[in-house]
Amino acid sequence: MADTPSLRIVIIGAGIAGLTTAIALKHHPAIDIDNYERASELREIGASIALGPNGMRTLDKLGIQNALDESIAFRNESGHPMIYRHYKTNEVVSTDSHRGSVEYRHLTSRFYRAHLQQALLEHVDPSRVHLSKAFHSVSRDVTAGKLLVTFTDGTNTTADILLGADGIHSAVRRSFVATSAPTWTGWVAFRSVFPISHVSHIADLPDEAVHIWGPDRTLFLSRLGKDLFTVVGSSQTDPAAADAPYKDAVWDTDGDVNVLREYYQDWSPLVRAVVDAVPHTRVYPNTAAHAIDSWVLGDGRVTLAGDAAHAHGGAFAAGGSLAIDDAWAFAASILEVFPATTTAPSRIPSETDIARALRLYEKTRKEHTDRVLRTVHQGNRKKVARVGKVETDEELRARMKSREDPSWIHEHDVEATFLSVLAGEGKRAEEQARL
Ligand SMILES: Cc1cc2nc3c(=O)[nH]c(=O)nc-3n(C[C@H](O)[C@H](O)[C@H](O)COP(=O)(O)OP(=O)(O)OC[C@H]3O[C@@H](n4cnc5c(N)ncnc54)[C@H](O)[C@@H]3O)c2cc1C
Ligand SMILES: *[C@@H]1O[C@H](CO)[C@@H](O)[C@H](O)[C@H]1NC(C)=O
Ligand SMILES: *[C@@H]1O[C@H](CO)[C@@H](O)[C@H](O)[C@H]1NC(C)=O
Repeated sequence: MADTPSLRIVIIGAGIAGLTTAIALKHHPAIDIDNYERASELREIGASIALGPNGMRTLDKLGIQNALDESIAFRNESGHPMIYRHYKTNEVVSTDSHRGSVEYRHLTSRFYRAHLQQALLEHVDPSRVHLSKAFHSVSRDVTAGKLLVTFTDGTNTTADILLGADGIHSAVRRSFVATSAPTWTGWVAFRSVFPISHVSHIADLPDEAVHIWGPDRTLFLSRLGKDLFTVVGSSQTDPAAADAPYKDAVWDTDGDVNVLREYYQDWSPLVRAVVDAVPHTRVYPNTAAHAIDSWVLGDGRVTLAGDAAHAHGGAFAAGGSLAIDDAWAFAASILEVFPATTTAPSRIPSETDIARALRLYEKTRKEHTDRVLRTVHQGNRKKVARVGKVETDEELRARMKSREDPSWIHEHDVEATFLSVLAGEGKRAEEQARL
């Protein structure tokens, strides 16, 4: 083993981005990957998570077909990624549509987050996922020509490349960009996941994902895999207000179903029946941060993926798919400088090769996710500006119809972008050769 050169990649985090990256590179005979995860166990946690055609296609490409299975991925057969209903009349005011042609198995799907994470875990070697390992720092070990990664328990490991896939509050990101800590957007989600039997008595229970909009809040309802159902209520306040409710709320803590019932007491009989039947709820204050200037950090050996790279706070339910596409693009960029061959490689990529791979990755993803972030922050500002304003029914309907068409996010083609970045590089190299 010792004389077989290998490229060692250390991934911080075993969430969707971290696991998908490990899967995307696992067949390379000379790449050595470990995930280091802060949690002491990967237990069932989280509520519902959506994947659009972008993430579904990428999972399919990576051979993660078990995640596309009907048993865990709930698709709406109408083919509409989202249906928007009126809070009082329950009528459909607007729908999202897929723009390109989308195969049935790639239709927007809703998962219980734990099911998706479990499906990914089935593809990784459990001995390479190290639990109770919280990232502390990364530095250069000049003599070894490697990175030295330390954990808060005092242990350490070396790496050629460090990928921070440690979520929205990423310690890896903050160790390079101290100002990138996310802040509360004033939006709080009340997420509940429970067996559908709690609500199956409701006569007109929607059998598709619906987003119901009222003047001051929304309610999201969907079936999930394995006969689960999710309800996501919401509260928007001005985060700068001294008396903003939930100002000090902690992410993923017990909520009060009576608050939810009170929020929706004037809504349609369907909504009231659903919130009356919700057995429990958890509180998730939403946070977000602005785009960082560069994804190529630590002298060209450190980068980020998933929420760590773009802390957009779950807007457009895009986080899962963006993380999966980041993982694909990171892996494609590494494979570009270090192709998987059956014979043992004679040398591992040089420092210059590694920096080139990380720049390719950044070029493939950053422009797109920066645009997502700009759109999210613009939307957040509008939501805060509306707090306390009275909206007529006409204005509500107009707002529902003029919302952002999110198909550019959900149908983004990461592979096409990667190929065009590569083609652009090729052209540049040709031009330089001619000079
Ligand atoms: C427990 C949990 C529940 C969630 N629930 C929902 C949900 O219900 N709906 C939804 O839309 N999104 C949810 N999200 C967010 C969603 O998973 C992400 O937006 C998206 O999937 C992108 O994934 P990610 O891998 O970038 O981040 P994440 O899924 O957040 O994964 C990051 C991983 O890194 C680990 N980590 C964090 N800090 C460190 C550190 N210092 N050292 C080592 N490891 C670290 C975390 O424990 C986590 O496992 C949840 C995230 C988590 C962690
Ligand atoms: C999806 O939407 C269509 C049209 O609204 C509906 O008829 C169908 O039953 C829905 N549910 C499922 C499970 O596809
Ligand atoms: C890294 O860990 C080893 C033990 O495995 C220890 O000897 C060494 O001092 C540690 N290095 C640093 C910089 O913490």
